[in-house]
Amino acid sequence: MSIEKTWAKHPEVRARRRRRLKIGLGIGGGVVALLVVLGVIFWPALQARYAPAPPAAATPAPKPVPKPEPKPEPVPEPAPKPTYDVDSPSSITVVVNKQRPMNPIDWAPDDLVVPEGIPSVWGHPIRAEAATALRSMYDASVAAGVPIKITSGYRDYELQKEIYDGLVAEGGVEFADRDTARPGFSEHQTGLVVDLEGDEGCALSECFRDTATGAWLRENSWQYGYILRYNDGEQPTVGYTFEPWHFRYVGVDVATAMHEQGVKNLEDFVGLPAAPTNLD
Ligand code: DAL
Ligand code: ZN
Repeated sequence: MSIEKTWAKHPEVRARRRRRLKIGLGIGGGVVALLVVLGVIFWPALQARYAPAPPAAATPAPKPVPKPEPKPEPVPEPAPKPTYDVDSPSSITVVVNKQRPMNPIDWAPDDLVVPEGIPSVWGHPIRAEAATALRSMYDASVAAGVPIKITSGYRDYELQKEIYDGLVAEGGVEFADRDTARPGFSEHQTGLVVDLEGDEGCALSECFRDTATGAWLRENSWQYGYILRYNDGEQPTVGYTFEPWHFRYVGVDVATAMHEQGVKNLEDFVGLPAAPTNLD
């Protein structure tokens, strides 16, 4: 037997081995116990830390946003046609014709003046506003070398009756009605009308159309608020044959609009029916 084997069986060696084993077991048990204690202490925290995230709460699907209805393109309103006072006898846009008498029938203006500085055959007055505009037109006609002269202006009911009755006596009703208004139906009674002539003759005659004065008036009167009231070819609407001498004051705005729009008679411009025949 070798000395080592003999020594290994020695009781002291065996006791030492047992002690070492005990110590080893003790240490190992302690470590295990410590791990258990640590595990107990820290397990919930670790679990919370590393636990897989709970499935996200199902978020409701977003509601589809309704597409806004396309707004219909606004249809532009047609510009309202200006309305004119065609009824009041004192209105500068009053319309008097064979179907529309003066109302009252013997109405008379209260602002008549004899136009200053304008040659006049009878010295008839006209309304103040029309007279002021006529003075401007007269000055322009002089500057253009075609000075105008007033043949006739305001005619009251009685004077119109005298003229009309005289023409009926001369040529009959049909003859008188062709170019002369019955009393109470003449726009000369408004105080807004002048019959004009020049130096060339042709006063109150259709040949006035061919004079330089007549041509100048047709071209320029609108700038002063006057319109040629009974135009060539307008008898079916205005009721009278062509009167190249008869000018009606309607104000610069209306006269300009009619000129620009090429409207040839007042009835069409203000939207009134034609008046070809007398009211009976
Ligand atoms: N000559 C026009 C129509 C009138 O008598 O009033
Ligand atoms: Zn006239």
